[in-house]
Amino acid sequence: METTMVACTTTCKLTLVTAKTLSPKFSFNFPVNKQVRRNVATLKQASFSYLPLRVRASSQAASAATEATKVGANLIPSEMKAWVYGEYGGVDVLKFDENVSVPEVKEDQVLIKVVAAALNPVDAKRRQGKFKATDSPLPTVPGYDVAGVVVKVGSQVKEFKEGDEVYGDVNEKALDGPKQFGSLAEYTAVEEKLLALKPKNLDFVQAASLPLAIETAYEGLERTGFSAGKSILVLNGSGGVGSLVIQLAKQVFGASKVVATSGTRNLELLKILGADLAIDYTKENFEDLPEKFDVVYDAIGQCDKAVKVVKEGGAVVALTGAVTPPGFRFVVTSNGAVLKKLNPYLESGKVKPVIDPKGPFPFSQVAEAFSYIETNRASGKVVIHPIP
Ligand SMILES: NC(=O)c1ccc[n+]([C@@H]2O[C@H](COP(=O)([O-])OP(=O)(O)OC[C@H]3O[C@@H](n4cnc5c(N)ncnc54)[C@H](OP(=O)(O)O)[C@@H]3O)[C@@H](O)[C@H]2O)c1
Repeated sequence: METTMVACTTTCKLTLVTAKTLSPKFSFNFPVNKQVRRNVATLKQASFSYLPLRVRASSQAASAATEATKVGANLIPSEMKAWVYGEYGGVDVLKFDENVSVPEVKEDQVLIKVVAAALNPVDAKRRQGKFKATDSPLPTVPGYDVAGVVVKVGSQVKEFKEGDEVYGDVNEKALDGPKQFGSLAEYTAVEEKLLALKPKNLDFVQAASLPLAIETAYEGLERTGFSAGKSILVLNGSGGVGSLVIQLAKQVFGASKVVATSGTRNLELLKILGADLAIDYTKENFEDLPEKFDVVYDAIGQCDKAVKVVKEGGAVVALTGAVTPPGFRFVVTSNGAVLKKLNPYLESGKVKPVIDPKGPFPFSQVAEAFSYIETNRASGKVVIHPIP
């Protein structure tokens, strides 16, 4: 088993680090939570003074199997531990609750024992009440992204069975009636159409990092009509979505050229992910580039500037902020079929999860993880693991 990681100092060239290049003390024979901590600790020992991120693409089937054997339908309790809020507000409205009812499974749903979950900016915005007009009633167990093990199936479920290792975004419509019982809990009930089998080479942490971000990246590219031979500018290439837009544009859609923006510390990441040119937004204005692009993918909220660098007849897709024509915005639809379509690219390692090195955050530190994602400084995804 080998984990590919990226580490660097503030001054060094980014280095690809593999198990073989690390200290002999390094071991991969740990359950995933211990292993992840060990990875970080080992890299720190190896005098990497700054770890901006890890691009993870390891094979950890053994740890997955270990997690899978811990659960079974006959062990499902009636109550579970979960993070809950009963009012909209800041991080302080989040409460840890040991006595939340395990959700009922509808006929088209499976019950998942959650092994890892991930945060997205939408979790924070939803908790702040920004979507209250279309939200489900409070109290809410937040969380969109999940990776875990199926422990129960509804009567109409055809594709999955108990013991399957699955991943997905639990909310079909991100803003329109998202579930009251999300993924920041020991169990969550999810429609089978929103799920896919977990890629075999990814552990649960890696899988949980993907669904909402990769589905957004893919849907946005599709909506622009992106195709082989086209050029693209990705604004915020270091975030959860942008880091996957770069990879999908290159590896899945066959982009002729990928240019992306980030802050100084993430420029090398953009290159590793496949960007031909990385623009430091703290030093350069992308509007001053001498070229224009077939597509601009705005994952930061700069549509007014983005439309200035698109070719005549090109497309500008915006995920957030005000929209300037001809730019357009969409809200992601969760779709297990997209994950299934992308699984071969994940399993071949052509597309890799990007996980912020401050995590994974253990379940007890969900509030800290929220605070971190709300700094808007995360590189890749903020993952929660282990979950009791
Ligand atoms: N419409 C939808 O369906 C949909 C779906 C998913 C996400 N979204 C929205 O899309 C946005 C991005 O989501 P995400 O998950 O990718 O966010 P994220 O991971 O939280 O983004 C954090 C990244 O933003 C970078 N950043 C901050 N200011 C920047 C700037 N001026 N230019 C370029 N990069 C900058 C940061 O890099 P530095 O630290 O180097 O500054 C950091 O790496 C959020 O607003 C989210 O709510 C919408």
